[in-house]
Amino acid sequence: MPVTVQGVIARSKGAPVEVVDIVVPDPGPGEAVVQVQACGVCHTDLHYREGGISDEFPFLLGHEAAGVVEAVGPGVTEVAPGDFVVLNWRAVCGQCRACAKGKPVYCFNTHNAQQRMTLTDGTPLSPALGIGAFVEKTLVAAGQCTKVDPEIGASAAGLLGCGVMAGFGAAVNTGGVGRGDSIAVIGCGGVGNAAIAGARLAGATTIIAVDVDDKKLDWARGFGATHTVNSRVEDAVQAIRGLTGGFGADVVVDAVGRPETYQQAFYARDLAGTVVLVGVPTPDLQITLPLLEVFGRGGALKSSWYGDCLPSRDFPMLVDLAQQGRFPLSDFITETIPLDGVENAFAKMHHGEVLRSVVEL
Ligand SMILES: NC(=O)c1ccc[n+]([C@@H]2O[C@H](COP(=O)([O-])OP(=O)(O)OC[C@H]3O[C@@H](n4cnc5c(N)ncnc54)[C@H](O)[C@@H]3O)[C@@H](O)[C@H]2O)c1
Ligand SMILES: [Zn+2]
Ligand SMILES: [Zn+2]
Repeated sequence: MPVTVQGVIARSKGAPVEVVDIVVPDPGPGEAVVQVQACGVCHTDLHYREGGISDEFPFLLGHEAAGVVEAVGPGVTEVAPGDFVVLNWRAVCGQCRACAKGKPVYCFNTHNAQQRMTLTDGTPLSPALGIGAFVEKTLVAAGQCTKVDPEIGASAAGLLGCGVMAGFGAAVNTGGVGRGDSIAVIGCGGVGNAAIAGARLAGATTIIAVDVDDKKLDWARGFGATHTVNSRVEDAVQAIRGLTGGFGADVVVDAVGRPETYQQAFYARDLAGTVVLVGVPTPDLQITLPLLEVFGRGGALKSSWYGDCLPSRDFPMLVDLAQQGRFPLSDFITETIPLDGVENAFAKMHHGEVLRSVVEL
């Protein structure tokens, strides 16, 4: 029997989010219904609400979640009712051209649920990143459920489902940061600070946090930044070069995704260094760079989709590291909020007051 539960939707571009009744179908073949226990508020949810990702309103927001599998559809073998899972937006297909080449982290045909969750009048919802988890129960593809140790707790575990994984992976997987490297991270929200914490774990020796907000820079120090730069006050490129012997960092992560921050990243890396774009730009943004500089500086200009993660490999690993006290996963939780607190959490995010607000259900 389909169930009706409460969830948070963005009905139209820019309008405040609403808590409404959502109809969740029984899981079909290859699908699972998950009872959501916690879901972090990611900047990408705000991008959806602002119409920055697509026009397919109404959106069921939330995509950084953990919970317990309640029911599975026919043919599901990877998870069973009662399993504690983190939801992922990279359910690898195993068959597309990326998977066929042995690069499942780029899978071009990831799975989502086939059926749609709807409003009570039957209007189909577009779930954020194919998940939709600011809701008591959600319908996903079974492959979107990654089992982890329940001892970690849902609020912390859920963060692996997006922002923390994306930031950690941007530094460690995409940027390839390792022992003795220098890294600068521009934008120290949840994603940027996860890049900083990842760089520390990987052995980077110079970790430069750049933000326009001193509070974020204070947090960044706690996650492992060895130096901080307020780019409202000083020139980020000059400052990063100054802190790296005049050369620039081996890796620069842009965790904002604007032309000005990308430009800073481009010029603040050392020769043959790597730029990693993990912040998501809106469709209106453009950048112009001298082609000779693109050539002359060498190295790599990369984008990081979801931190180039493989959920089955990386989520349990990060849970292990967190449980061993080597990765500060729960430090990303600034506050826990109820389902009707998402709009307020967007405002706090906008004003830089939080790293992560986490909805607990
Ligand atoms: N690539 C991915 O797979 C992926 C996954 C999750 C999130 N994201 C994206 O990552 C970005 C960051 O997400 P978040 O949740 O950490 O957001 P956030 O709002 O928590 O953090 C953004 C930070 O950037 C800072 N900032 C803003 N403008 C700046 C500027 N010009 N210079 C320096 N710092 C600046 C803010 O002060 C804030 O600390 C968003 O664009 C989000 O959509 C990407
Ligand atoms: Zn694939
Ligand atoms: Zn996200």
